[in-house]
Amino acid sequence: MPIKVSQILTVLVFSSGLLSCSEQAEDTLAEIQSEQAQEAPINFNTQITIREIMASLIDPHADALWNSVRIISDANGITEYFPETDEEWTALRSNAVTIIEGSNALMMPGRLVAPPGATGIFPEFEFTPEEVAERLVADFQSWEGFARGLQDAAIEMLDAVDAQDPDKLSDSGAFLDEACEACHSVYWYRAGI
Ligand code: HEC
Repeated sequence: MPIKVSQILTVLVFSSGLLSCSEQAEDTLAEIQSEQAQEAPINFNTQITIREIMASLIDPHADALWNSVRIISDANGITEYFPETDEEWTALRSNAVTIIEGSNALMMPGRLVAPPGATGIFPEFEFTPEEVAERLVADFQSWEGFARGLQDAAIEMLDAVDAQDPDKLSDSGAFLDEACEACHSVYWYRAGI
């Protein structure tokens, strides 16, 4: 079957359209994604409680980051430990990434503080899950700010890991600790403790 000029033209117009599309593809995709992020009604699953996020996504990963640079003083004298192998740095990267994303999880509204029926561990010193929930409802914006502080500290740790810089890792570890305590002292610890 002979090909008509109009068909050739269609192919030409179509492929030149494709070309200009792929030239702009990077910009356009990024724009579309950021629009989606702002507009899409995303139904996140928030069944995991804040207590469980602390226990799974935050605490063990913070411990791993803090323990990665340490000075031990014992019968053998003073020994300084810091990450050396690629495997160690890679593992620490996962720890920082987990806290960064765990902070996003903390910022999602609608989570229970602890599983239903769970009680406070040290009710004398710490608010019960119900009391924490009351505080969350009263001021979610501050909560988000504290979660953002945690995320910023973890991003600093990630930068230190990517730079394979033990000094920076140690310094930003202190910043990370402050971020934990800032939130705990408002939402978790009873006043005066
Ligand atoms: C945005 C606020 C916030 C930040 C930031 C935060 N926490 Fe928490 N954390 C809480 C609250 C609220 C609870 C109490 C939940 C409950 O009743 O168990 C808690 C509880 C905990 C618990 C007890 C969990 C359990 O199993 O009972 C640990 C451990 C913990 N946090 C560690 C950390 C560490 C380590 C950091 C920093 C790296 C941190 N948290 C940062 C709010 C926060």
